[in-house]
Amino acid sequence: MTNREEIDLKRYIRNIPDFPKPGILFYDISTLLRDADAWQIAMARVARQVAPWQPDMLAAVESRGFLTAAPLADRLGCGLLMMRKPGKLPGETISHTYDLEYGSDTLQIQADAIKPGQRVVVMDDLLATGGTLAASVALLRKAGANVVGASLLVELTALGGREKLDIPVKTLLSYE
Ligand code: PRP
Ligand code: MG
Repeated sequence: MTNREEIDLKRYIRNIPDFPKPGILFYDISTLLRDADAWQIAMARVARQVAPWQPDMLAAVESRGFLTAAPLADRLGCGLLMMRKPGKLPGETISHTYDLEYGSDTLQIQADAIKPGQRVVVMDDLLATGGTLAASVALLRKAGANVVGASLLVELTALGGREKLDIPVKTLLSYE
């Protein structure tokens, strides 16, 4: 059997052209999730990257960020909060609206999700333009978080998303 350390997880990420719109090449993590060994290896590697930040809480970005954050919170023994699209969370919420290429989007968290100064790591599947991640950081700061880093499976480096961020960002697999 191949040494688990040597397995190239890019083999498990599938590219689908023209999704969700013509001209967009979609990086599909479904094929990584489907393979029990590959997914375990991915989560072990993500845990190694995130553990040194010693988070109190992981902030999971709806919806694919939920997939990486939940197993990681279990591995690291920390809490998890959901950053959701509007109208999904009960109780008092804090919102942040951000610009997209056409229009805008909003993320929300529960107002009591974070104790002031808690160390929070943002979790998502993919870093493209960085708009979602930058908005997530802004929202968490509004709620009093100390955002110590972000962890993603895939980074599309040509889009320069990382440059929008003033926190350390760790990604498992990068593509030009
Ligand atoms: C995708 C992806 C990231 C975001 C990255 O989410 O899961 O969250 O886009 O793009 P950006 O860096 O340009 O902001 P999407 O909005 O497609 O929603 P989903 O996770 O609910 O599928
Ligand atoms: Mg997403």
